[in-house]
Amino acid sequence: MNLESSGVSPDRAPWAIEPLHLPESLDSPDAADFIAANDLSNLTEGLRWGNNDHWVSAENALAGAQSSRYTARQGFIATVDDRVVGRAVVEAPLTDNTGCGYVHVIVHPEYQRRGLGSQLYAVLEDHLRGKDRRIVMAWSDHPADLDADADAGDADAADGLRPASGPGSLRQDDGVARYCLGLGYRLEQIERFSLLQLPLDREVPAPMMEATQSAAGRDYDVVSWQDSCPDDVVDQYGHLCQRMSVDVPMGEMESEAEEWSAARVRTAEARLRGQGGRSLVAVVRDVTTGQLVGNTVLEYFPDRPEVVYQENTLVLHPHRGHRLGMLLKVANLLRLQELCPQARRLYTWNAAENSHMLGINIELGFVARGYVGAWQKKLSARQSS
Ligand SMILES: CC(C)(COP(=O)(O)OP(=O)(O)OC[C@H]1O[C@@H](n2cnc3c(N)ncnc32)[C@H](O)[C@@H]1OP(=O)(O)O)[C@@H](O)C(=O)NCCC(=O)NCCS
Repeated sequence: MNLESSGVSPDRAPWAIEPLHLPESLDSPDAADFIAANDLSNLTEGLRWGNNDHWVSAENALAGAQSSRYTARQGFIATVDDRVVGRAVVEAPLTDNTGCGYVHVIVHPEYQRRGLGSQLYAVLEDHLRGKDRRIVMAWSDHPADLDADADAGDADAADGLRPASGPGSLRQDDGVARYCLGLGYRLEQIERFSLLQLPLDREVPAPMMEATQSAAGRDYDVVSWQDSCPDDVVDQYGHLCQRMSVDVPMGEMESEAEEWSAARVRTAEARLRGQGGRSLVAVVRDVTTGQLVGNTVLEYFPDRPEVVYQENTLVLHPHRGHRLGMLLKVANLLRLQELCPQARRLYTWNAAENSHMLGINIELGFVARGYVGAWQKKLSARQSS
């Protein structure tokens, strides 16, 4: 958007934008802005979804905001009279995808439609240009009341805003979509966001497990762990994580294979531990070769055990078609119910065109709750004057 036309020139804006300082701890005297920025994020998430399922504690957020040798993270805040009214975050991968950056902007509802979101975004884009990044990606969330909102998500509304590839659409008049389009982004893909109520009906899992095991045959078995991958399979597990970065449908999002060494697996585990999170991993092994050929991951936070997130699920190409995806998911869900009996809601995200994964999820009982727009912008070199 044109800031001049909005009447807010960056010089005369009522807010100040500055880098977000990460305090040593939440008890530090300089932690107030960080805590306020996290409160703002929780406020907008709560307003969007109408519940607190995506609430993140300040401790968890502080651990998650740290950079690592694989990802640089930087936040910015907008303040008005010491009150945090906007937050912008940028991530830049350091060992692969080094031409890319990932951005997210939030503005307090009282300060929306005044040009602040555009100014915060401009700061992120400048930051990424300074690091020679040329491809910027962003993801926008769109809850859908599927009974009332036939135009949303993968209803494929004729007049909806269609992605460059794959099925689905967003409403043409969606505010966040208008914002992304105005900043020069292209809608590349729609993901479906779904919910499974837990615990599973007692009747469901056992027969499903038996059916999947017999469909998978005797050549595969399932191995599970919590939080930390056994040393003897950590390299193989890294390979599965790497394939996850390229083997899922991504439309035209320009993503190259991520580098996943054993050290990176350990860094990811330590990061989740630092955030107070737990992971439950199930892998499927080809018994003849001993090779790990698929995995699935659940994550939850013991301070909010009723909410669980379905993370990566992958079966390597040569082993697809044996219902191993279902085998993995059912095995991991049964373990979750044993280890975290308070779990009540499991959330997952899938590309709208990922019919195999969606098929498994629908069979398990997941129902769509909303959609995610995957956006991409290619930065052109700046004209020198
Ligand atoms: C998206 C968001 C950051 C925009 O912040 P903002 O300060 O309102 O943005 P701006 O005032 O700079 O708006 C720029 C343009 O975006 C479009 N836009 C923004 N919000 C809109 C809305 N609700 N309806 C229609 N268009 C909208 C308009 O074209 C607007 O220009 P205009 O006001 O001159 O018509 C804010 O709505 C927000 O925090 N949403 C929740 C978090 C989120 O979804 N972030 C985006 C993740 S990619």
